[in-house]
Amino acid sequence: MILAAGQGTRMRSDKPKVLHELAGKTLLEHVYTAASRLKHREMLVVYGYGGDAVRERHARLPVSWVEQKDRFGTGHAVLQAMPHIPEDDLVLIINADTPLITAATLKKLVASAMNSGFVLLTSVVEDPSGYGRIKRDGEGKITHIVEDRDTSADEKSITEINTGILAVTAGPLRQWLEALDNRNSQEEYYLTDIVALAARQDVAIRSVSPESNIEIRGINDRVQLAEMERYYQLVQAHQLMRRGVTIMDPGRFDLRGDLEVGGDIVIDINVLFEGRIKIGKKVSIGPNCCIRDTIIGDEVTILPNCVIDNAIIGNGCRIGPFSRIRPDTVLDENVRVGNFVEIKKSGIGPGTKINHLSYVGDSDVGREVNIGAGTVTCNYDGANKHKTIIEDNVFIGSDTQLIAPVRVGAGATIAAGSVVTRDVEEGVLAISRTDQKSVRGWKRPKKKP
Ligand code: UD1
Ligand code: CA
Repeated sequence: MILAAGQGTRMRSDKPKVLHELAGKTLLEHVYTAASRLKHREMLVVYGYGGDAVRERHARLPVSWVEQKDRFGTGHAVLQAMPHIPEDDLVLIINADTPLITAATLKKLVASAMNSGFVLLTSVVEDPSGYGRIKRDGEGKITHIVEDRDTSADEKSITEINTGILAVTAGPLRQWLEALDNRNSQEEYYLTDIVALAARQDVAIRSVSPESNIEIRGINDRVQLAEMERYYQLVQAHQLMRRGVTIMDPGRFDLRGDLEVGGDIVIDINVLFEGRIKIGKKVSIGPNCCIRDTIIGDEVTILPNCVIDNAIIGNGCRIGPFSRIRPDTVLDENVRVGNFVEIKKSGIGPGTKINHLSYVGDSDVGREVNIGAGTVTCNYDGANKHKTIIEDNVFIGSDTQLIAPVRVGAGATIAAGSVVTRDVEEGVLAISRTDQKSVRGWKRPKKKP
């Protein structure tokens, strides 16, 4: 059961806390991903604040949604889900705001609870402020949890904290939940108060700890979110480096999604990857590139400051600096795309060069074509988009406008500065510009006194 109904007041946001993102995935998705790796009958998500948005964003997750209409605390949240749970089931409860929790730790907790019935995930931390503190008696038995806001001066110094994650059998859980009251500083029904109720009935409450304390860090505000983001990015960068990727500065690397890599890849500073990306072997990516949902072949060079979205980049291509490759673009092998070139929804044949200041959209371009500086495919007539077809070995002079729909036959040459409004036959020179004339004795205007 994932508790995700809270607003997250400390985020100071209209957006529910669980919709805030860490490395491009919502906090709830992170927790879901870890939990989904455990054997389970059903995954319940208790939602409430910003409910429609939360459900919409996670529509593809195979979970059962339980609404907590009024949010009277974590105990009240769990109670809403109890009608869905058979008495003998073991319930694993996780706060949605601990995104780095691992499946391994959750498994350890569940394994322990299978034997004993009630186990808390607790941890000893350097700075316990903000967390509920675990209170034990003289024999070390857990007796109750004191919420941070309800702690006495003495209790503040307790360093064993409640992570908000626990596993317990449904039957007794339901009884304890029904017995909760809200006599505390926040007037909430605290889930954590079931611990005192259980202890009073002499129920043994065990505890297990996570591998690392970073796993159980809760995110309550944007500072903690940013700290966690940097930590997470560093872990991802280190994983890639161990797989043979050179990352010039792991502190300036961001991956919001999945990156599949071949060998000997060099990634310079400030590169952002989003979505699903696959990179082949011997690829170098220059500084300040944004690459999303793209497949990159072998021996590709991407120079600084490129933006590439939803494209396929063939082996041996060289792109940039300052190129923009937009969705549905396929570059075949050894294509060159240079500065201030934008390509959209186009196929570019092997060995073709588009090196400077051009726009190529809705086009099919053949092999070994040379597209000169400042060429524009005029694909849009104000209402519809039209195609430009440029066959193999065409040479397009600089500053050519191709008014689509139009076809340029194989081997044709277009003279610089032409406006091409009709199809061009194979092999010809097409030229459409006014003849040059000279005006003799022309005087330049003078500045008025
Ligand atoms: C909670 C624990 C605290 C623990 C800490 C660990 C309680 C009372 N306190 O405190 O002991 O140290 O987590 O991070 O449980 N939620 C609901 N409905 C509600 C209230 C909250 O679904 O009515 C959800 C929130 O969306 C959140 C989770 O429960 O995901 C925890 O709520 P939060 O307010 O963050 O609790 P903490 O004060 O952090
Ligand atoms: Ca919290």
